[in-house]
Amino acid sequence: PDRYQHSQGVGRLPQPILLWNRKASHTLRKGSEDKTPKKRFSEVQEERREQAQRTVLIHCPHKVSEKKFLKYLSQHGAINNHFFYESLGLFAVVEFARKESVGSLQSGTLMPHEAAIPFRSRFLSLKLKNAGGQPSEPPSVRASQQLPPSSQRLLERLCRAESVGDQLDTLLQELQLTEENVRLRYLTCSLIEDVAAAYFPDCTVRPFGSSVNTFGKLGCDLDMFLDLDEIGKRSTPKTVGNFLLEFQVKNVPSERIATQKILSVIGECLDHFGPGCVGVQKILNARCPLVRFSHQASGFQCDLTANNRIALKSSELLYLYGALDSRVRALVFSVRCWARAHSLTSSIPGAWITNFSLTMMVIFFLQRRSPPILPTLESLKALASAEDKCVIEGNNCTFVRDLNKIQPSRNTEPLELLLKEFFEYFGNFAFNKNSINIRQGREQNKPDSSPLHIQNPFETSLNISRNVSQSQLQKFVDLARESAWLLQQDGEGGPAPAPRQPWGLAALLLPSVRDSRSLSKKQNRRPASERVKSLLESIKEHNPDSPTATDGK
Ligand code: CTP
Ligand code: MG
Repeated sequence: PDRYQHSQGVGRLPQPILLWNRKASHTLRKGSEDKTPKKRFSEVQEERREQAQRTVLIHCPHKVSEKKFLKYLSQHGAINNHFFYESLGLFAVVEFARKESVGSLQSGTLMPHEAAIPFRSRFLSLKLKNAGGQPSEPPSVRASQQLPPSSQRLLERLCRAESVGDQLDTLLQELQLTEENVRLRYLTCSLIEDVAAAYFPDCTVRPFGSSVNTFGKLGCDLDMFLDLDEIGKRSTPKTVGNFLLEFQVKNVPSERIATQKILSVIGECLDHFGPGCVGVQKILNARCPLVRFSHQASGFQCDLTANNRIALKSSELLYLYGALDSRVRALVFSVRCWARAHSLTSSIPGAWITNFSLTMMVIFFLQRRSPPILPTLESLKALASAEDKCVIEGNNCTFVRDLNKIQPSRNTEPLELLLKEFFEYFGNFAFNKNSINIRQGREQNKPDSSPLHIQNPFETSLNISRNVSQSQLQKFVDLARESAWLLQQDGEGGPAPAPRQPWGLAALLLPSVRDSRSLSKKQNRRPASERVKSLLESIKEHNPDSPTATDGK
């Protein structure tokens, strides 16, 4: 499949490095946006990466005593932070204060006796020497949650909110990546980097996509890329006299073939030697070749690519947009969740709209407001200084990276209105003629006949939604119109919905907007609510513990 066409004390979490952990309250939004300096994407990436290098992953027996476990590990140095989580067993993520502690821990770690491929990774197993005699303390570890809440819990929370705007904020709070989950994502990349380093010492494995762009939802896949560029930059050429030394390397016919060969060996390596890496698939003929695997211990579905700096740059751009105004992420989460609930998106590649495309649509919509909520990519480019200059494979990817240089928007429209207007805008968009273009921030004539055209912000000749079929687009348009209509009805008063009865965003996430519309057309508004209420009941009855309908991508 062509994927791209398609120091704190022990146990206490430090102040989050990520700015998206801040509570996005829309009372704060009105004129008093948080003024704390916002970190650059590259700073966040570097800090997280360094933190992950001081961290180990330990599979633990269930009856482990947290206190004794920490005491045992702190022989190797102070522990900054730790947490436990469940995923096919109990695991602990332990961050030491210093990197040397990891080496010390590894030198005190046994290689198992059974026939095994010896690999001294940072993924370890804790064994109890005397399993019978140990637990004087009851096992008391609190496991942190790495998956999204069930759809029932989510709907209940939404129904208890005070307004539609509050519902959007609630959804964001419930679904966004937690501090622990972000740590686990960076740690997983760091562990994969250790395996890749067997072939390419000094390589870097970086997360990108929704794990880092602040639009990721608990349970989303982990996109990572193998960065070999740094290796080339390591030496400082000495040009004494008339000589210059160059490394002898093997030449291959093209960059693409080089990428395929590198990913092929790394794929083999992960398959044969990567602790906890299972189901390794090499998908090398895709436009962007990748190795897909599942990292069992973290529970992440991973997509490893190479030579993919542009995608990292687009993650940085989305991070920037997400940080500029607190309404952006709330709106994107709701739209993504809405699309997933109605099967407009899927975890299987196909003719569906992707989350990446939906995010672009939200950004574009916010650029079109008056006054605009988000600046165009062209204007971000105009604000760039010399050090922001970035050209990747001939594509100009320059934009200002210091968030503090961008003026906040004067637009104060509430989330509730924006959600309704989003549906209305795209319910009536001239998709047959126009292309969505966040660089210019205005519609442009479509350069080809693909049903949905969203220009790739950096590789401007590419359409990021080339895979989308006419029928999928039509489904999106129909659902958008119906959702706008439903929100409009809500806004027009009538008796306030009874508590716990799905209303506002909750009603939009229920399976059958269409049915409720045709019913309510005939019988006004109450029966529609009755209908969603009974749908909610049926979800509860049939599947009390079902994962949220918005699972996966
Ligand atoms: N990407 C791209 N062009 C595409 C698809 C993806 O440039 N047509 C890049 C984007 O930077 C995107 C990243 O690859 O963020 C990862 O793609 P994907 O996993 O499909 O999207 P995510 O943004 O990670 O969203 P999701 O939560 O659905 O994984
Ligand atoms: Mg992804």
